[in-house]
Amino acid sequence: MSNPKRYTVTAALPYANGPVHIGHLAGCYLPADIYVRYLRQSGKDVKFICGSDEHGAAIIMKAKAEGVSPQQIVDKYHGIMQQAFTDFGISFDVYSRTSKKVHHDTASEFFLKLYNKGCFEEKETEQYYDAEAQQFLADRYIEGTCPKCGNENAYGDQCENCGSSLSPTELINPRSKLSGAAPELRKTKHWFLPLDHLSGKIKDFLLEHKDWKPNVFGQCMSWLDAADGLQARSMTRDLDWGIKVPIEGADGKVLYVWFDAPIGYISATKELMGADWEKYWKDDETELVHFIGKDNIVFHCIIFPAMLMEHGEFILPTQVPANEFLNLEGQKISTSRNWAVWLHEYLADFKGNQDALRYTLCAAAPETKDNDFTWKDFQTRTNSELVGIYGNFVNRVLVLMNKYYEGVLPTPNSLEPVDEELLKEIEGTPAKIAASLGKFRFREALASYINLARMGNKYLADEEPWKKIKTDGERTATIMYVAAQVCGQLSQLGDPFLPFTAAKLRSFLRLPLLDWDACVSRELLPAKAEIEKGDLLFEKVEDEAVELQLQKLKNSKPNEVEVVEKDAVIEPVKEEVTFDDFSKMDIRIGTILTAEKVKKADKLLQLTVDLGMEVRTIVSGIAMHFKPEEIIGKQVSVLANLAPRKIRGVESKGMILMAENSAGELTFAQPGSQVDNGSVIR
Ligand code: 2FM
Ligand code: ZN
Repeated sequence: MSNPKRYTVTAALPYANGPVHIGHLAGCYLPADIYVRYLRQSGKDVKFICGSDEHGAAIIMKAKAEGVSPQQIVDKYHGIMQQAFTDFGISFDVYSRTSKKVHHDTASEFFLKLYNKGCFEEKETEQYYDAEAQQFLADRYIEGTCPKCGNENAYGDQCENCGSSLSPTELINPRSKLSGAAPELRKTKHWFLPLDHLSGKIKDFLLEHKDWKPNVFGQCMSWLDAADGLQARSMTRDLDWGIKVPIEGADGKVLYVWFDAPIGYISATKELMGADWEKYWKDDETELVHFIGKDNIVFHCIIFPAMLMEHGEFILPTQVPANEFLNLEGQKISTSRNWAVWLHEYLADFKGNQDALRYTLCAAAPETKDNDFTWKDFQTRTNSELVGIYGNFVNRVLVLMNKYYEGVLPTPNSLEPVDEELLKEIEGTPAKIAASLGKFRFREALASYINLARMGNKYLADEEPWKKIKTDGERTATIMYVAAQVCGQLSQLGDPFLPFTAAKLRSFLRLPLLDWDACVSRELLPAKAEIEKGDLLFEKVEDEAVELQLQKLKNSKPNEVEVVEKDAVIEPVKEEVTFDDFSKMDIRIGTILTAEKVKKADKLLQLTVDLGMEVRTIVSGIAMHFKPEEIIGKQVSVLANLAPRKIRGVESKGMILMAENSAGELTFAQPGSQVDNGSVIR
């Protein structure tokens, strides 16, 4: 939309079943906050909406693990999450919760509207029931033996050992996680939202948004093109935690958490705006922007829009700037393995340094592909960019200004080309940042911002006012005047990225927060403005602090459970291939004979594999997942006719096939029992 009247910006409602970590922040909340702060500063009417997602199996499982009620879980984590967001300056206009009455009412009304319009298909299916616990079992409540690999602890929806996606009835010897008893199949009724008849409408809607980020648009298209089309989805569940299905004959059933959660955006807007909420959801001139992580794309780009289309009164999302995932020290962030940096722990260890984390997470954001957070990178960016360039520059200006002029900005004299060049940069930076943010390119926007500090720092180093003050007072006054303008601009344009620092700097400069357009100026600080001496803006990150964090990770103990509503993370099926395409691949069983690390390559192992007909050297990117000594003797599947490739100077002939689960953990694709090396998989 070229000039929307207002913006409704949402950030995914996080499950209230654990604290917030850096992956959440980088993937969704930080970019959303930067965008909203920028819009607000630009004088736009914007509402920033979020809240806790308090329903679904994720909450119930956590309650079981902690031995408390679901209500106690959501009360505990809602508070912790809200505090973490506040501490990191995430400036929601409302942070609601889906357990509130306004949400239960809104979601029930929404369901009823669709029900009364005949949008649902009522279907009876057979599902596992725990007679002892007297309840139907969500997929994650059922464990059993995986039919594919024999793992005895596979879940009803997935085997974490071999990565296969399963349905509960495929499990051998299923048992209930609630009572340990063998569950029985019982008939149960649910309300499904058919999507096939909407696929044309959904496709048209998506095709109007080719401007969406390629990672988002591409994933939507592959869902639409998936071989089995858009399947009807059950919008109800047999659970006793959630929003009761508001119709007759639905006792013991609640709304599916992915039905009610996105409606939570609407309920939270009602909570914020009272009677005035509707224009944020029903007026075509409202831009509706959903910030999410990539595991939520299908829900926000297909299922929620389908619900909105069926309802008929609402606008559809205009932008869904989803990010990819942030890894940590080369591995997927995992709650269950406690492989994460928790915001409350960061805060305890790096008090008052929230902007340093915001800075690194934005500079290394997983904008177009997964990206890695490392403590070393955090240290380097903080020390060389924030402390060394930005902080150093500002500090010099403030100190010199007070030393030479008692804190009163001098009047400039004639400008030289270097001064003009820097003033032009000051004037041009708001538009540059705005252009990047308009395209959701946060890294690029931040780079333009820090570049201004870099130019200021260089200017000062080149012009050396501390030398000129002895011989040329006039020139020194001009230099200090120009340098102060850079500080002024940094204090304004920094609000979206580094809100704590920018506010501190504005207080030193005694400036209010100005409108973004007013920043298109080369004189934010007029001559005679009074400037305080201030103090340091950033703190250095010492080697010991980095070491401590790395040690913490190394010692991290696995948590008991990690539960997510899984649908979102199963990858869609790829484009169809013919049997001929398939039979071109020669997949064999082989045994790993030797394994060693490849020098100077953290991720690579060099293997020799006995393929029956010959012994091959294969370089495999699995070193972060397996120790060499663990895998010697294992039988694995090998793509044997992959063209040889030189990797780090070693010729690799073939590829080891692996299953990767949604948490990024790898397992070998292995035969169920010992077979001859060289056996063909077909
Ligand atoms: O993935 C999650 O954490 C979900 N709770 C996100 C929900 S987003 C929206 F639909 F509320
Ligand atoms: Zn398995």
